Amino acid sequence: MTQHLAAPAHHPTSGTHTGWWRDAVIYQVYPRSFADGNGDGMGDLAGIRDRLPYLRELGVDAVWLSPFYASPQADAGYDVADYRAIDPAFGNLHDADALIRAAHALDLRVIVDLVPNHCSDQHDWFRQALREGPGSRLRERFHFRPGKGEHGELPPNDWESVFGGPAWTRVEAPDGNGGASQPEAGGEWYLHLFAPEQPDLNWEHPAVQDEFRSILRFWLDLGADGFRVDVAHGLVKAPGLPDVGGSDQLKLLGSDVMPFFDQDGVHEIYRSWRRILDEYEGERVLVAEAWTPTVERTALYVRPDEMHQAFNFQYLTANWDVKELREVIDGSLAAMRPVGAPTTWVLSNHDVSRHATRFANPPGLGTQLREQGDRGLGLRRARAATLLMLALPGSAYIYQGEELGLPDVTDLPDEVRQDPSFFRAEGQDGFRDGCRVPIPWTRSGSSYGFGSGGSWLPQPDSWGELSVEAQTGVPGSTLELYRAALAVRREHPGLGAGDAVTWLDAPEGVLVLARDGFLCTTNTTDADVELPVPGTALLSSATPWFGDGTVRLPADSTVWWAV
Ligand code: GLC
Repeated sequence: MTQHLAAPAHHPTSGTHTGWWRDAVIYQVYPRSFADGNGDGMGDLAGIRDRLPYLRELGVDAVWLSPFYASPQADAGYDVADYRAIDPAFGNLHDADALIRAAHALDLRVIVDLVPNHCSDQHDWFRQALREGPGSRLRERFHFRPGKGEHGELPPNDWESVFGGPAWTRVEAPDGNGGASQPEAGGEWYLHLFAPEQPDLNWEHPAVQDEFRSILRFWLDLGADGFRVDVAHGLVKAPGLPDVGGSDQLKLLGSDVMPFFDQDGVHEIYRSWRRILDEYEGERVLVAEAWTPTVERTALYVRPDEMHQAFNFQYLTANWDVKELREVIDGSLAAMRPVGAPTTWVLSNHDVSRHATRFANPPGLGTQLREQGDRGLGLRRARAATLLMLALPGSAYIYQGEELGLPDVTDLPDEVRQDPSFFRAEGQDGFRDGCRVPIPWTRSGSSYGFGSGGSWLPQPDSWGELSVEAQTGVPGSTLELYRAALAVRREHPGLGAGDAVTWLDAPEGVLVLARDGFLCTTNTTDADVELPVPGTALLSSATPWFGDGTVRLPADSTVWWAV
């Protein structure tokens, strides 16, 4: 698809090197669930553009957009059929161009999602590869292999898909249609670490490498300020595709280097991408979605000639526990220091239950939950956790709706669910739809202001009270807490700067963290804790009580202090 666009969008900081990304607060927009501009029940680019002033007012620095490319939506757009086209459900390239320009005019940067590990089984390359059959050159761009067993009826190795079941699907014999929906005897198998509709690309192949360098340029030319790189740990597979040799591979994913994840070869790819980004003005950035066994291995992705940032999933998975939080904060800062990259912090995204719901449940249940738990408790802790996160040096990620204190919708009927792993017997729990329900803008009305045509996932009755409208201007609301926190962060640029924190002595269950001229106290216990007043209170997730030279920090709360 070719569309003619005007000259590239003006870039917020053309030519200057501000290191804006080092302490940026980046807001994740999940396009299908943010705002629906055309009333078809599905969010879109026009809807996002209309709401940019809201994001400006919230006080974030950049927006990361989950995929909006042409896609059959087998995995909510993480199955890309054309990397240079917008899915009609979301708009077209003119809408993307207009969105980037409008964001820049408000001094918001735009990070787009790049999905290089796999494409859609409807991508031209894969369709042609299927048509051309075994031995064809196009099949070399993927991982096609003959099966094992007498008739090739067994998968080529023991790898399991993250979404459950074998990571291999057998295709039709050469003259058939093939594809995920029609496995049949006689054909080769292809590798898909995720759904069968997401064939893995072969990153050893020069055509794959060239294609993605060209895709990078396409979006950089359009004005994108960077890329969040999906499954950045997955592109290179161990030579010979060796068996893992154990069962329950999903459990190993977080703790071991696997033959299909976190292979050292990925780093050369990112070095070549970095060289491209550095040719462009305005400090464009690469952000790794890299699930690695340790923060030290995550740090390898952000060496000076590679990516700029990587998500800190160790922080996201930490429990509401002083020892764990302090260890992960210290460990993350220590791991990033030698490579000179900023640490990042994240509590929620489109793949895990929102932190208001995770903290409402007992620890140890994983990151995809089906229970509400104690909602009051979850919200108190979520607000406290956010203030702690925003007091740490580095860059922080906010997932749409967390500023409203939204919980997961845990009781979605099975028939409306769309998460592909929900439909597979093993693998991830498949409850990701719970954190993807369209967000409420107004107290009432069609889909609570999401759009005029309903909502692709049903919204609960509680959505109205949690809406932007219901919380705007209400002292103490979660939305106003986020706005105030981001304003304080802007007024105190020291908050996001640096690569260290100082811990002060604190009662059991309390964290006291000192930064230059600033103190953050977090009480993780279920009881008030009394302290000598440490400074002037700036902001709090729950109101503290002051006595004679003392302050009582409420249970599960964070207070920011100027000192
Ligand atoms: C990443 C995305 C997730 C997607 C998967 C496969 O983990 O965040 O949503 O399902 O990659 O692309």
